Amino acid sequence: MIEVAVKATTANLGPGFDCLGLALDIENRVKFSESHRNFPDKNNMIYSAVKRIFDITGKPMPLIDIHQQIGIPVCRGLGSSAACIAVGCIAGNIMSGANMSIDELIKIGTEMEGHPDNIVPAFLGGFTVSFMAEEKVVYFRQKAYEGFKYAVMYPEYTLPTAQAREVLPKEIAFKDGVFNIGRASLLTAAMITGDVELLKYACRDKLHQPYRKSLVPEFDNIVDKAQSLGALASFLSGAGPTIIAILSKDEKDFEVTMKNHLKIMKGNWTLKIVEASNEGVRVL
Ligand code: HSE
Repeated sequence: MIEVAVKATTANLGPGFDCLGLALDIENRVKFSESHRNFPDKNNMIYSAVKRIFDITGKPMPLIDIHQQIGIPVCRGLGSSAACIAVGCIAGNIMSGANMSIDELIKIGTEMEGHPDNIVPAFLGGFTVSFMAEEKVVYFRQKAYEGFKYAVMYPEYTLPTAQAREVLPKEIAFKDGVFNIGRASLLTAAMITGDVELLKYACRDKLHQPYRKSLVPEFDNIVDKAQSLGALASFLSGAGPTIIAILSKDEKDFEVTMKNHLKIMKGNWTLKIVEASNEGVRVL
């Protein structure tokens, strides 16, 4: 039997569309065991990732059972699909004896997911910058800055990434591109150094949040409230609907006041305060 653990991830962090990512200390654990029956759900992403590795090696895949202990909210913009893919790739690599490198698995995972911004931190933990270039996933990975914690706020409704990508424009104004390049560059520096003055400006975005707000009607209200309660920055996590506020680690009052505020919002919102994680996907 193999057991694999993987963390949640947030992507974009505001301006870093499809390239910035951060692992968060929310975990899924998945057990794989031999089975005597066919796995019932061939569309299961963990199963698909295991199968992908076996297909690449050309070896027949054995019958397996998959048991999940789920901590990562599904379809909320917290990297649940990247987590399934990372777990499946790691387990498939071991079960098949393929002995692929992490970089090879990251590439396979990115091809399955379509973009690397959740996949890379799911595999490696920490804060990451990544993109696809000439069939290769190019990435930078840094230990997460220790002075921040993260208020992760999500509603009971889900938002499939495909739907959240449909509302994006096909083209953007040149000035909006310039706006985001500056913020994303500054945000990378702020996430490494912990410079809170930079963070105040760095999470703003003109590429996706303005368009996706229509799918998360509570967005402006929650972000305004978070900022008024001392959040250093707030953004839509991945494709949403989760909203994340970055807090100083010694901040004390945010949780209680924000939970009370969320009670008056539609959508039955949950708030969890978590730390970033430097742990990538791992075999237990
Ligand atoms: N960068 C992706 C997006 C993350 O915003 O659509 C969600 O998969």
